[in-house]
Formats: sequence, C-alpha cells, structure tokens
Amino acid sequence: MRRTTGRIERTRVAGEEVAAFVPYPLAPSDPPLALNAEARRFCATAEEHLQRLDLAAELVPSVDWFIYAFVRKEAVLSSQIEGTQATLMDLLELEAHGGEAPDAEVEEVCNYLDALSYAHEEMSRPDGLPISVRLLCETHARLLRGVRGAAKQPGELRQSQNWIGGTRPGNAVFVPPPPHLVADLLANLEHYVHGSNSLHPLVRIALVHAQFETIHPYLDGNGRLGRLLITLLLGHWELLHEPLLYLSLFFKRHRREYYRRLSAIREEGDWEGWISFFLEGVATIAAEAVDTARTLHTLVTTDRQRVVTAPHTTVLAIRLFEFLPSHPILNVGRAMELLAASRPGAAKAVHVLEEAGVLVETTGKRKNRAFGYESYLQRLREGTEMLHPKADRA
Ligand SMILES: Nc1ncnc2c1ncn2[C@@H]1O[C@H](COP(=O)(O)OP(=O)(O)OP(=O)(O)O)[C@@H](O)[C@H]1O
Ligand SMILES: [Mg+2]
Repeated sequence: MRRTTGRIERTRVAGEEVAAFVPYPLAPSDPPLALNAEARRFCATAEEHLQRLDLAAELVPSVDWFIYAFVRKEAVLSSQIEGTQATLMDLLELEAHGGEAPDAEVEEVCNYLDALSYAHEEMSRPDGLPISVRLLCETHARLLRGVRGAAKQPGELRQSQNWIGGTRPGNAVFVPPPPHLVADLLANLEHYVHGSNSLHPLVRIALVHAQFETIHPYLDGNGRLGRLLITLLLGHWELLHEPLLYLSLFFKRHRREYYRRLSAIREEGDWEGWISFFLEGVATIAAEAVDTARTLHTLVTTDRQRVVTAPHTTVLAIRLFEFLPSHPILNVGRAMELLAASRPGAAKAVHVLEEAGVLVETTGKRKNRAFGYESYLQRLREGTEMLHPKADRA
C-alpha cells in the first residue's frame, strides 16, 4: 500500500451491510506523487504530440472536416467500450440519409456527439458554462437522452447506492460513495479543476478522470462522461484547442488494464501506476492522431487534384468534392441540397467524382444510389472495427 486514498463508509442497503469507498480530495499527498522516469517520459512525449496535433489542425484548410472525422471516431469507440455495436458506417449513413436513429445503439453514438459539441460550445462562449457540476449534469442529460437512458435519471446525480461488478452492493468489486456524499465530492472536484496547482495539467487530467470514475456520480454513463471530460479538460488547460483526441481507442485496446489500474488507486494507493498508464495513452493516441491527420490531409489534397484535372470536370464537381470530408456518404438528392443545384447538375457532379475514382457506388441499386468517399472512409474505419481489438495486456 503506497498510501491511503480514501476511507470506507459502512452503510446498509436492502438490509445488507455495504462498504462504500469515499475518496480523499485531490491531489494525492502523504506521500506526494512520485512519478518515475518512464511516466515523466510519457508526459513529455504526450505534450509534444499534442502540440503537433494542434498544429496539424491549424494547417488543414478547414478544421471542421478534420474534427468531423475525429469526433465521430471517438463517439463510436467510446460507445463500443460498453459494448455498443454501432459502427462508424451506421453513424455516417444515418447522418447522410437523415431521420430517426434506426436503433438505440446508433442513437447512443449520436447522443455522445451531441453532448460533446454542447459542452465544447458552452466552454467556448464567453457567457457559457465553465467546467462545473452543472455543465456535467447538462452534458449527461444529452448523453442519456432517449429510450435506453430514460430510466437512468439523465442529468441528475444519483440518489441511490450503485456498485460495479457483482449482482448487488454486498458482493460488488467496488462500491462508490453513498449518494448523500456525491454532490460534495463533485463540488470538491470542480474546485480542484479551477484551483492552482503545481502538477502538470496532463497529470491533473489523469487524476480528475479517475476521481470522477471513483465517485461514479450518475446511475449510468459515468464512463462516457468521464472520457468526454478528458477532452474538455485538454481544452480547458489549453493542451489542445479542438476536441481531436480519441483516447477511448486506448482504453478499448486495454480495457482490463484500464479497470485494473482504476481499482489499484483504491486498493493499493497506486496513483502513479494509473498516471503512467494514462500518459502512455495520451502519448500513443496523440501520435496516431497526428498520423491520421497527415494521411487524411494528403489524401484529400491528392484527390482534389484528380477532380480538378479530370477530363470532363465541372465547377459543381469541384465544389461537391469540398463537401466530401464532412459528408463522405451521399446520394444525388443530398448533392442537390449541398450544392443548391438542379438534379442534372448534381448528377453530373457525382458522375465526375465517380469517374475520377473518388466516389464509389455503395448500394448496387439502379435507383437512389448511394456513394461513398471510399479511400477516406477506409482510413477512418481503422480502429473502429469490433472484431479484431488488439490483445489486452492485463
Ligand atoms: N474498478 C473500477 N473502479 C473505478 N471505476 C471503474 C472501475 N471499473 C470500471 N470503472 C469505470 O466505470 C465505467 C462504467 O460505468 P458506467 O456504466 O456508469 O458508464 P458507461 O458510460 O455506461 O459505460 P462504459 O464506460 O462501459 O461505456 C467504466 O468505463 C470505467 O470508467
Ligand atoms: Mg453503463
């Protein structure tokens, strides 16, 4: 045991005695944090890659399509941690064709996107909400909107005892703090975020995420909201100006280690092990994101050239191409809307892009055919397939 990181509070739930864990306020002391050389190296690398990612975002002509790609990937991966099967293609198709989400899983991913953009906008507006318990509750309400979340009190701090692992609090792996302490513990966390501190901001984000998961303030959605909070904090501490880091990918690859390291903070007082794991995640994923950004950028630049120099190209085709990164799946009807053009004009534009090998017909139908920006989608799909997650280390 390196240190004690909280105290046990014994309560009774349904006639059974339960040992709930109440974390001490951040930051860890007694002894203070002592990061080893490896963790410090991860921290430096992580910061360096984040800076490169920030720059990469500035270099691309439109940061919007860049964010489009990353945010959607993040949304799919974050939901997949809980076992949501929605794929990136489901999401893109829903967005391309509009309408209601076909099933609860795709709805969950849409909610994640909605919640992230809501929180990001609030924090960017001068009179918007800062990172606070209120912002978290508002964001949570959006995250759990709809059919499946309805029974889970969206937007409200829990008023009952919850637990992780096991069938009831009495045999659980972990029992979070009793409900009457949740508001105070979160207020404390908010205070920590806005207070001054000598720790590196990346280390502080690691602390905040783990503390949030330990408090487990909501009946459901704590994992998703906690990961969204990481993205918000990167912005808050100006490590990354746009929400471009999809850390869920790392947690998905190493899910058991993720859970084990969170538990070790409580059980062994091991903050350092968690921080090191977290920093390794940021370093790894930021490096991959820079790589993805570069690849996408090169791809779009090359394809633009192909469209511009295509034998029978049209102005509409060139304009339609610029929509593809943010609308990688479309049909002629959608192209008409985007271009505010006639059907023949839009159809011709789609045809030019197809001839240039940029768009690929995806439906195999004669009527209402759909097209995809295939090489771009291919790059986005990497890492989001459910079937071949990398082996877990834990
Ligand atoms: N042993 C543990 N100690 C602390 N936190 C844990 C532990 N195991 C899991 N967690 C956290 O709890 C989250 C799951 O809680 P919850 O079901 O409320 O969130 P979710 O968003 O619905 O699920 P998920 O994260 O699986 O998508 C995990 O993502 C993780 O962050
Ligand atoms: Mg859940």
